[in-house]
Amino acid sequence: MARKKISIIGSGNVGSTCAHWLAQKELADIVLLDILDGLAAGKALDLYEASPIGHFDVNFIGTGDYQHTVGSDLVIITSGLPRKPGMSRDDLLKKNTEIVVDVTRKLCRLSPDALLIVVCNPLDVMTFVVAEVSGFPQKRVMGMAGILDTARYRSFIAEALGVSVNDVAAMLLGGHGDDMVPLPRYTTVAGIPLAELMDQRKIEAIVERTRQGGGEIVNLMKTASAYYAPAAAAAEMAEAIIKDKKRVLPCCAWCDQEYGVGGAYVGVPIVLGAAGVEKIIELQLTPQEKHLFENSVSHVKQLVNQVKTFISS
Ligand code: NAI
Ligand code: 2OP
Repeated sequence: MARKKISIIGSGNVGSTCAHWLAQKELADIVLLDILDGLAAGKALDLYEASPIGHFDVNFIGTGDYQHTVGSDLVIITSGLPRKPGMSRDDLLKKNTEIVVDVTRKLCRLSPDALLIVVCNPLDVMTFVVAEVSGFPQKRVMGMAGILDTARYRSFIAEALGVSVNDVAAMLLGGHGDDMVPLPRYTTVAGIPLAELMDQRKIEAIVERTRQGGGEIVNLMKTASAYYAPAAAAAEMAEAIIKDKKRVLPCCAWCDQEYGVGGAYVGVPIVLGAAGVEKIIELQLTPQEKHLFENSVSHVKQLVNQVKTFISS
């Protein structure tokens, strides 16, 4: 069986760390592409030189040339500016739209059957841009955010309860912004509803810390934004696709009738497999959860309206 091929566009912090996680899983041969071609080539060589120690049999190419991405099964798009302290994800809108439009045009011609995972911020809007520019079926284009956001939420819960992170399961809805909607009602610890183990005030504090989780790391690091957990989250999506695992995960997916969204890319629970977004799972929301979700969707739609003017101009 021929090996699968995953191309990662952008070989910065998220892209190269994702390549490392993917290599450890031996999912596919990996192409790292960057506008700084030496950066991509150096990181690819460094990863290859790590392979005898890490015991992974993976071929790496580091390049600035899209010809190397031809026939990719999966492309992970991380090329974009990250946040600096004081910036919101939305502040990245114009510049990252230009980058994402450019790379999508180049990559989709050469890999017409690929699935696309978008990572650049503002995430939900950039996922919309990639879907529009690629013209690929919406179920083959998706964004990574909910796995990262729930991982933060799950780790804060595990820490507060003094339990294993492996036992905390959670779900989250909405855009990847400060108005994201973690769902305590759908959070369990080894099957036990969270509300039976933690008081409401503590839950609310953890939800709020989760919403600010990206900013917390930017404020600590100052010159970069988070990348270990984001890269691990993108690699989890890649694994679900390459191994056709049918994982139930919170991802940014195109919703039309679902949740009454009426046409937008936002975070929802999906079944993720070889075909991409194979199903969107609709949860029964309380009026309060519905209100928070609609607020988040409305924010995403406002940004999408701004971005449509950049794409058409
Ligand atoms: P980084 O600055 O370390 O890496 C970005 C890379 O993209 C750089 O190496 C740069 O040279 C490259 N690049 C820029 N323009 C390009 C082009 N036209 N073609 C090819 N490569 C190009 O940034 P980092 O930390 O890797 O973050 C990447 C993006 O992912 C940012 O927009 C960041 O906000 C976003 N992000 C999203 C997360 C999410 O949950 N969805 C989580 C973490 C980061
Ligand atoms: C994060 O949440 C920067 O969106 C990125 O860390």
